[in-house]
Amino acid sequence: MQLNHPANVAVIGTGYVGLGTAGLLAHIGHRVTGIDIDQNKIDMLLRGEVPIHEPGLDDLLSSQGDRLTWTTDYSAVRDADVIFICVGTPPGLDGTPDLQYVVSAAASIAEYLNGNAKVIVNKSTVPIGTGDYVQRLLEDHTRAFDPTRHFVVSNPEFLREGTALGDSLYPDRIVLGGQMEALEIMTQLYAPLIDQTFSPPKGAPRPEWFTRPAVIKTSLQSAEMIKYAANAFLALKISFANEISGLCERVGADIEEVAAGIGMDQRIGQRFLQAGLGWGGSCFGKDTQGLISAGREHQYEMPILQAAIDINYRQRRVIIDKLLRHLKTVKGKRVTVLGMAFKPNTDDLRDAPTHDLISQLNRLGASVTAHDPIAMKRAEREWTHLNYTPASSIQEAFERADAVILATEWDDYMTMDWNPLLATMRRPLVIDARNVIRSPINALVEQVGRDAPRGERRRAGAERA
Ligand SMILES: NC(=O)c1ccc[n+]([C@@H]2O[C@H](COP(=O)([O-])OP(=O)(O)OC[C@H]3O[C@@H](n4cnc5c(N)ncnc54)[C@H](O)[C@@H]3O)[C@@H](O)[C@H]2O)c1
Repeated sequence: MQLNHPANVAVIGTGYVGLGTAGLLAHIGHRVTGIDIDQNKIDMLLRGEVPIHEPGLDDLLSSQGDRLTWTTDYSAVRDADVIFICVGTPPGLDGTPDLQYVVSAAASIAEYLNGNAKVIVNKSTVPIGTGDYVQRLLEDHTRAFDPTRHFVVSNPEFLREGTALGDSLYPDRIVLGGQMEALEIMTQLYAPLIDQTFSPPKGAPRPEWFTRPAVIKTSLQSAEMIKYAANAFLALKISFANEISGLCERVGADIEEVAAGIGMDQRIGQRFLQAGLGWGGSCFGKDTQGLISAGREHQYEMPILQAAIDINYRQRRVIIDKLLRHLKTVKGKRVTVLGMAFKPNTDDLRDAPTHDLISQLNRLGASVTAHDPIAMKRAEREWTHLNYTPASSIQEAFERADAVILATEWDDYMTMDWNPLLATMRRPLVIDARNVIRSPINALVEQVGRDAPRGERRRAGAERA
């Protein structure tokens, strides 16, 4: 089956994944319509504003001209050759991914499906078997669905917020799951990406070492599993480093040295071995829980994953314990948390460790101040249930604080001049929950799994998903 080039593509959902996907597909030459049910988001996009913080995304989207349009109207699906589903799959109360947005997107697609569309691509992270389920939903909702001409494909997304552009344009691999005819169409759609024939956009140059992504063609189920298993493994690596870090503290070893030493083994690798406050964000917690609940459905226990989750959330308590060890009680004390987003270069607050830190500090009676270079406005809307004072500047965040917890390693905190700020604190106590302070500062510093720096040079910024 031959795909038109440029192809008409509809991208359903304009969140972190949908916006990146729409920008990428337009940049490699296709005509893309981004569809969302959120009128506010679409209005912003039509005004040329980007509803999320992602470095380089504004430039990428604004440079696509009429290759990229936005609407809330699903009828755009009529003209699409390929339709991407990029809606959210948040965890339900029992950890099972909530598929209501996928189901409603599939039903809306079905309403407008005609002979044109060839492939419906699922980019949302969904439980194994959802591809078949989406196909059945389409069959159920429209007589136009013809399983010999319409195909459902799984094409999981591996981008990381904060580095989404580079991750999408220069991916390690592209995973495509489904029937051969459909995978052939996807290969045609992605040809400029696979062959790297596009010009790199401003702000996302092609790394010198990069040649082309591997293309992995699998069954629908394997592709869905690859996404979950990849995230679960990365989460596991971080929790492993955190578990070892606790023992390092007790036996006098240094987790940074230990991680470097084991990471040199190519079978292990250096990445995702940073001890600290643990993972957060919309994916690791949700996807590990998702796998565990899939196992549960099949009466299959997954104790390693459960342990990874337990260790991750224990780590948030470890940071508070370090604080209490020095302050004894935080009642009436002023504690500042630096960084609210779950990692630097994003405004995403989903499952952010800082949320739990503030909530624990609230319970303990501390007076909390919080700062973030980008996510503070969003927190004002989404964290109304927490009790904290937003600091309008880093300077203000330090003033009269009894302790500062560095929770997210934004560049602003990595490059600030500590000592003048520390001098404005009531008591210079710093809990560096990301192990990023590399030389001595005029404060009592606590790190994770190691003694605070005594003048030696340390590795820069932690790396997280
Ligand atoms: N955020 C990431 O870093 C990341 C990375 C890889 C995979 N994923 C997966 O991708 C999926 C999307 O994640 P996200 O972070 O982009 O979510 P998001 O919440 O940022 O965006 C989802 C968008 O879908 C829209 N939406 C919901 N129902 C809709 C419908 N019926 N029709 C049209 N639009 C609809 C919402 O309004 C929202 O704008 C999830 O399954 C997630 O697990 C996310």
